[in-house]
Amino acid sequence: MCGIVGVLGTHEVSPQILDALKRLEYRGYDSAGIATLNGGNLERRRAVGKLVNLSDLLVHEPLPGKAGIGHTRWATHGAPTVANAHPHAAGPVAVVHNGIIENHRSLREELTAAGVRFASETDTETIVQLTAQHLAQGLDPVEAARATLARLEGAFALAFLFQDQEDLLIGARRGSPLAVGHGEGEVYLGSDAIALAPMTDRITYLEEGDMAVLQRGAVTVYDADNRRANRAVTHIRLDNLRVDKAGHRHFMAKEIAEQPSVLRGALEFYSGPGDEAPCLPEGVDFAAAGRVVLVACGTAYYAAQVAKYWFEQIAGIAVECDIASEFRYRNPVLGPRDVAIFISQSGETADTLAALRHVQGRVGQVLSVVNVPTSTIARESDVALPIHAGPEIGVASTKAFTAQLLVLALLALRAGRDTGRLDADTLAAHLRDLAALPGFMAQALDRGEALRDIAAELGEARDVLFLGRGPMYPLALEGALKLKEISYIHAEGHASGELKHGPIALIDQHVPVVVMAPRDALFDKTMSNVAEVMARQGQVILLSDRAGLAEAGPGIAHGLAMPAVPDLLAPIVYAVPAQLLAYHAAVYRGTDVDQPRNLAKSVTVE
Ligand code: F6R
Repeated sequence: MCGIVGVLGTHEVSPQILDALKRLEYRGYDSAGIATLNGGNLERRRAVGKLVNLSDLLVHEPLPGKAGIGHTRWATHGAPTVANAHPHAAGPVAVVHNGIIENHRSLREELTAAGVRFASETDTETIVQLTAQHLAQGLDPVEAARATLARLEGAFALAFLFQDQEDLLIGARRGSPLAVGHGEGEVYLGSDAIALAPMTDRITYLEEGDMAVLQRGAVTVYDADNRRANRAVTHIRLDNLRVDKAGHRHFMAKEIAEQPSVLRGALEFYSGPGDEAPCLPEGVDFAAAGRVVLVACGTAYYAAQVAKYWFEQIAGIAVECDIASEFRYRNPVLGPRDVAIFISQSGETADTLAALRHVQGRVGQVLSVVNVPTSTIARESDVALPIHAGPEIGVASTKAFTAQLLVLALLALRAGRDTGRLDADTLAAHLRDLAALPGFMAQALDRGEALRDIAAELGEARDVLFLGRGPMYPLALEGALKLKEISYIHAEGHASGELKHGPIALIDQHVPVVVMAPRDALFDKTMSNVAEVMARQGQVILLSDRAGLAEAGPGIAHGLAMPAVPDLLAPIVYAVPAQLLAYHAAVYRGTDVDQPRNLAKSVTVE
């Protein structure tokens, strides 16, 4: 959350910084700001709300200067006001920050007692005030930054800009990601490579505890022990970082629509040359696995929950599945034969990363399923399995979810083979089914267009329930999450069988109930629950294949005929109507689909 940028340029930098911030806006959009050195003096422009407000301000009040830093904020400490917007400045230094300074209260008390007057309510201002104090004590900028970093507890990525230091930027990271970009006579700092993509394809990813001293001709990196460190320069593929809507009205619409091609690409990645079906992932071994431990947040956690069914059914391995923020604080019982799998689109989610660090050294193998192969979670796991979904810009995760499911399905099959539970013929049949996935996704997209009118009805509802059984239960949770996060309609997902234990009290003629029920072994059970809903005038929207709809009979309010798919594929293919229902309901209600209120794409604070 929060995006940071720094540029030591050869021209005016505020347009470059603004452009980079646009590409980081998915990380937060409560306020934004830029500081530059104008004739050696620090000058700032800050605006509340989306970046467009800052760019409007810059039209009227331009910000000259060839060195600068910028920030797009997801508020943690202090409301989204101009005073709380970054960059924060104190005397000769300005700072932008992504993360949380956990000891900010004690630092603020100490600084206040020393006579410092704070201009904001943020934790970040303690950083800049401390640095100003160190500068006033005679430390040079590098020493002052270092002395400040030594006082900070918590998670941060920082960029420092100093008055009269036209050729100096300092970056530091602990817990939050930060990359250095190398240009022609220019150097950059950015929360990720996407931010810097228009300026350079040469990137150095800073490691945990690093401090980087940037000058136009040289970048010096110090590690957590203040020793000079060699950090590689990576050439990134810019075509992988294209972030346009490709003619769609929203990034989310584009990302939903591109799932067949994304999954085709991922299948190709996991296939050998000339293979018609994917192969099993290499470098992992479940033969001796005592247990599989799946940990993630949000949508990625629902992917983990689906995978729990797969690992248990296909491989016969016991699975522990938990939300990262709960997992790490409940002293989970771990053993040397456990295989822990962390799932994260961004690869930077603070809770998931902390959970990963918690298991290191306590389990047999640490795997991750990530979209960003250079991310911290990928780098800190024993084996990182990429999902190859490409940049996901819409805050609500869509294509990353289905690509995570594909990779988790391959892992479950691998586990089935390693444990000997899955015979060769069944394995080959499952792999053939997975090869057919892009085609089924395309069919689901075609049929999903019929959901537009149904979504308009959902758009009028106050509450919506989603029901599913077995691997479709996590799908129900995901459907509800998608709907609430972008349309702001209250939605809940439930296991169909659990309805009668409480949630059924919510049902009346005003409550749409979306039931996700492929014609599988649990279909009849789910239909009993559908009958219970209809008996109470609930408006059932049934997602099933033709046979399922025919069996359900006339009492349902709406039916969507999904393609008939193999059981393994159902949770992946049924994600499409769940996404489309949420998308069309949000468009109907006129909400901000790609940047829903209060949310951010990459949650790098606890
Ligand atoms: C919901 C959504 C979030 C993320 C969650 C984890 O649409 O996108 O729930 O799934 O914040 O993010 P990653 O996968 O980046 O760890």
